[in-house]
Amino acid sequence: MRIPFWTKRDYALQPLTSEDVPALPAIHEEDFVRPWTESEFGALLDQQTVFGFAAREVGNPRAGMVGFVLARLAAGEAEILTVAVSRSRRRQGIGWQLMDAVLRELHAQRAEALFLEVDETNQPAIALYRRLGFGQVGHRPNYYRSPEHGPTGALVMRRDLR
Ligand SMILES: CC(C)(COP(=O)(O)OP(=O)(O)OC[C@H]1O[C@@H](n2cnc3c(N)ncnc32)[C@H](O)[C@@H]1OP(=O)(O)O)[C@@H](O)C(=O)NCCC(=O)NCCS
Repeated sequence: MRIPFWTKRDYALQPLTSEDVPALPAIHEEDFVRPWTESEFGALLDQQTVFGFAAREVGNPRAGMVGFVLARLAAGEAEILTVAVSRSRRRQGIGWQLMDAVLRELHAQRAEALFLEVDETNQPAIALYRRLGFGQVGHRPNYYRSPEHGPTGALVMRRDLR
């Protein structure tokens, strides 16, 4: 459902820190078949190559975190590890803002390319990535397994940063 423009909310992004880790699993488990645990998120964020951003509603601190993205950059190539927006906050531009923040950071770091894998049945995510300039460069059959779709393939997508 689209929010009418007169009730449009604004969201601010901040780099993810270890203090954000406890809030991540609750958002992640809204959609992922095997959600990552707090300790898995913590171990990822401890890695020097891993960074991310959290989205929060401006002027409404009680709402807490409403979305986040995690990415890894090594040797000029980057990958999206995960991106998720709370179901109640979707289609308000948060996913786009999170991905745009990663792209900006990667441009600043002079990275060459950004890769990701996405379930071939995940139309919202694929639409978002295509809109951001990602193109398909591969396909991994039977890569995911969900109660809803059974085994599904993964699209490997790439965004040139040069
Ligand atoms: C994918 C996801 C992060 C998108 O977040 P979002 O905040 O709802 O996306 P945005 O509002 O920024 O959408 C930006 C654009 O993406 C596309 N898009 C997003 N959701 C869409 C949908 N349900 N159907 C079609 N296009 C969609 C549209 O082009 C949209 O622009 P528009 O609203 O002006 O038409 C969100 O759906 C999500 O958390 N999904 C579950 C987790 C997941 O699948 N993560 C990706 C794993 S690879």
